[in-house]
Amino acid sequence: MGIRRFFIVICIFSLFQTIFAQKELNVQKEIKDAAKQYKTMLTTHQDVNKFPQSIWPDGEAKDMPSSWWCSGFFGGSLWYLYEFTHDTAWKNAATKWSMAVEKEKINTSTHDLGFMLYCPFGNGYRLTKNGQYKQIMLTGAASLASRFNPKYGVIKSWDDWEGYDYPVIIDNMMNLEFLFWAAKASGNKAYYDLCVTHADNTLKNHFRKDYSSYHVICYGEGGKVLAQKTHQGAADSSAWSRGQGWALYGYTVMYRETKQEKYLRQAEHVAHFILSHPNLPADKIPYWDFNAPHIPNEERDASAAAVMASGLLELSQYSKTNSKLYIETAKTMLESLASPKYKAPIGSNKGFILMHSVGAKPKHSEIDVPLVYADYYYLEALLRYDMISKKQNKSLAIKANDALGLLAHAKK
Ligand code: GLY
Repeated sequence: MGIRRFFIVICIFSLFQTIFAQKELNVQKEIKDAAKQYKTMLTTHQDVNKFPQSIWPDGEAKDMPSSWWCSGFFGGSLWYLYEFTHDTAWKNAATKWSMAVEKEKINTSTHDLGFMLYCPFGNGYRLTKNGQYKQIMLTGAASLASRFNPKYGVIKSWDDWEGYDYPVIIDNMMNLEFLFWAAKASGNKAYYDLCVTHADNTLKNHFRKDYSSYHVICYGEGGKVLAQKTHQGAADSSAWSRGQGWALYGYTVMYRETKQEKYLRQAEHVAHFILSHPNLPADKIPYWDFNAPHIPNEERDASAAAVMASGLLELSQYSKTNSKLYIETAKTMLESLASPKYKAPIGSNKGFILMHSVGAKPKHSEIDVPLVYADYYYLEALLRYDMISKKQNKSLAIKANDALGLLAHAKK
């Protein structure tokens, strides 16, 4: 190859590198920063009965017991840090904080066992194949499945709420992944069928014409819809942001597990609602409710963005037409979350990675605070983004080779 041609080839390579260097989110750095924060968290949390949850209004750390729906996220995040770093210190911490949730495997009073058990033990089992984790999860899955009543066709979320005795929240879609795993691990197809029935009834009853989701559907005898309500949203008729994230993520998992097109379509419809909404800000971090009354003077919800980013990244792998849009949007969300506007300075924020989430504004609870699940889905989304961009870079390498091939061809 002559000097001139060699120079052109080098220029093309540099161009590719520059474009990608500018565009790439620096996952390595973000995980490093996250690890620094979670090291603090491990130092300040020695008692395994006190799980990191958030920060109280007076600035003190807010810890919760294992029975709280969020108890599995800390262990789950520690497993993600182990997955990325391969550092056994994270594995040891993840083991400790996962086992701290074990006793909840016989808790039949909550639908949240998917969050509580599958985030820590599901990731732990995926990474270690520890048979003990499998047994814990199988017991937990039976507890969760006990809340499904075939006469209603849905898993009951809460035992009693505002006078209704069979309320189901959109968040419940997130627990189906756990039961899909249990169906495969136990060979019990009833779990699979249960997921499909729950998802079909949710698809029928939980969504409005524009594919936004109600938060709570109150069921009566025979699965009759008695009321469409909200618990954490701005109004019964509003689109509570995290709920839209749960719906997007939940139907993406439904498609992954069943390969039924109707679930892929549903996930895409929900994604379209979110991404085309006039109240979605340019940085793609939603307000806590798409219909919050005082937008733009309302709090953002980083946790909703983290759930959405992770869901969009998985959905991008199945979508035939919107893959690029989903990746680009998830990337914008992650870039925003990783910016100083949402990511806490190292050593602050009581060790949580992200700031600015909202738990339940109408209940005056957890407004504009860090939340342990915002961190969990942020880490998950970073890992997913890393995997997808490595795949893309491989195809970029092919493109670069093509460019070389073309040059070589021109030379002949
Ligand atoms: N699953 C409860 C929440 O999203 O706040």
